[in-house]
Amino acid sequence: MARISLILILFMNTDATAQSTFVPNYDENKVVNYSLPDLGDIVGEKINNVSQWEKAKGKWLQIYASEMYGIFPSKKISVTSKLLVQKPILNGKAEMNVWEVSLAGKLKVHLIGFIPLGTPVKAALLGLNFCGINTVFMDADIPVSSKYVICNESPFFNNHIANNKAVGTQEDKWQIEKVINAGYASFSVACADFEEDFPDGYKEGVRTILANDLKVNPKDWSAMSAWAWGLSKMLDVIKTLPELKNTKMILHGHSRMGKASLWAAANDTRFDAVIAIQSGEGGAALLRRNFGEGIEPITTRFPHWFLPDFAKYAGNESTLPFDQHILLSLIAPRPLFVSSALDDQWADPKGEFLSAKEAGVAYQLYRKKGITEVNMPDTEVLVGKNVNYYIRKGKHEVNALDWDYFLKFIPKVVSGDF
Ligand code: GCU
Repeated sequence: MARISLILILFMNTDATAQSTFVPNYDENKVVNYSLPDLGDIVGEKINNVSQWEKAKGKWLQIYASEMYGIFPSKKISVTSKLLVQKPILNGKAEMNVWEVSLAGKLKVHLIGFIPLGTPVKAALLGLNFCGINTVFMDADIPVSSKYVICNESPFFNNHIANNKAVGTQEDKWQIEKVINAGYASFSVACADFEEDFPDGYKEGVRTILANDLKVNPKDWSAMSAWAWGLSKMLDVIKTLPELKNTKMILHGHSRMGKASLWAAANDTRFDAVIAIQSGEGGAALLRRNFGEGIEPITTRFPHWFLPDFAKYAGNESTLPFDQHILLSLIAPRPLFVSSALDDQWADPKGEFLSAKEAGVAYQLYRKKGITEVNMPDTEVLVGKNVNYYIRKGKHEVNALDWDYFLKFIPKVVSGDF
């Protein structure tokens, strides 16, 4: 097992910034006993109703901000946009738009949006992409990112910088045509536009460039918060589009972007639902379970994702004031979909399931049902009501099958009929 684990961690470390000597546990029998914090721990009382919970929520957000993700800035800044590209795509079924969005007149980001034509838009999706907006769809008119991106496969990227060949390379993850056919709009922005994903990335990202405008010291937030906050700013732009004013806004994110999506939705209640895909450690998975990735490897390899001080909980998980079921609870009563993949044990699918199930306690306060199943479901069986969970066979990725399941969830978000 140790050898397999070592191979695994070396494999997972391809985009690492520092090596960790941590040996992950993949044996359920070796998971330590733990007890989870209660919703009311933060206010020192049992939470029995929504008004008590709404008060406790603010305190939980503060403690997440001071212990883990850092500040999610609340100061308003100017957000303006200029349309760079607008054209029909998919034989006229949709319109593709690319905006240059200016944050406080100082930082420019690119937002891409695919909007169904000739039919009212039923809902809109927004997600961060890993490698630039031109990777999500095959169209040569989409501007190519000049930022350091997470992808690095030759010949599409050189030293983490995309070239023209990168166009459409992440199409499978986004399934734009499937989403358009179902009547939904889809928006995407590159995480690198807010902060490039390496420890010094913050120096040229929102944390530094907008420090004075947001009145937040760059060291008081993290890349995860920068990405999450960036999603909120994109929502400001989307909300100005007349055809989308009253549609439900659904966040989705894979892996590190899933972590950022959960944190964004916890802070910004304008997001009506969240789909967190294999978000794992620092996302939906319980931190107290010593299974797969832990706080030690994530904070060693990606020190910029969280506040530096979060590393003190490595090996001391029981002293954490929260666990990730609280993060999921902060999304209640809005619909939540947690999704896992069987071969993605690094993300601890069971820890994701247990966390989603436990979040049901917060949903019950609003008379909404979470997950009633006691055990993890079989692969490809969708469980839960307002909190959905599903695991499929296969690896850490987003694919067409995942989207089939997300497209079962979205109509319920729209109708409210869970
Ligand atoms: C690494 C990291 C995970 C993260 C993943 C990803 O594997 O350890 O925490 O979710 O990258 O973002 O793809």
